[in-house]
Amino acid sequence: MQAGLFISFEGIDGAGKSTHISALAQAFKVQGRAVTLTREPGGTPLAEKLRTLVLQDAMDPLTEALLMFAARRDHLDCVILPALARGDVVLCDRFTDATFAYQGGGRGFDEGVLSQLERMVQTSPSQPALVQPDLTVWFDLSPDEAAKRLAGARVPDKFESQPLAFFRRVADGYARRLQADPARFARINAAQTQPAVWQEVLAVFVAKGWLT
Ligand code: TYD
Repeated sequence: MQAGLFISFEGIDGAGKSTHISALAQAFKVQGRAVTLTREPGGTPLAEKLRTLVLQDAMDPLTEALLMFAARRDHLDCVILPALARGDVVLCDRFTDATFAYQGGGRGFDEGVLSQLERMVQTSPSQPALVQPDLTVWFDLSPDEAAKRLAGARVPDKFESQPLAFFRRVADGYARRLQADPARFARINAAQTQPAVWQEVLAVFVAKGWLT
């Protein structure tokens, strides 16, 4: 059996990660790998309910952070860890870096508290090492460009309707996460055309030996 692979995808709203995640799922399946395609917040019935609450209702920053991590805990227990144990490729649309970027950077919530929650949620007695993605693909796009792409695209949710300054702080939050653990990240220039972005994404997976 092949070892499981845990890959997360990040970027500010409008960075355009969705089509590439679907294309990667297809590419892995063509090469015979079982794929678990999932997202955060969400990915389980309970976590999807929490997603609806957290993307729609106003709440204080600690409540928002706790709900993100509560959803993550359920998602890890019920979907991500079992899939990795089976040897699946887990493609997860956002993970903990999003909490550091949005709640930490965007909202200005205490990153020390987020680190405590991260440790609480992403470890267990049988798994004392922090569960983290093997690779995080960061679709890096300037907040100004992302805002242009999002304008009029659909009814914005609670985060998408935030001002440009919020997304500048989110982007800085992602940059800090990359600086703290550069080996885990692949930074993609998301300002290019969609085919050019795809070539860059694919090259990362080929270089890792995960796709041919
Ligand atoms: P997103 O992943 O962009 O999904 P969609 O493409 O359906 O809009 O939306 C999730 C939103 O939730 C996004 O604005 C980022 C936000 N978010 C956080 O604020 N913190 C988190 O920990 C996560 C996972 C997401």
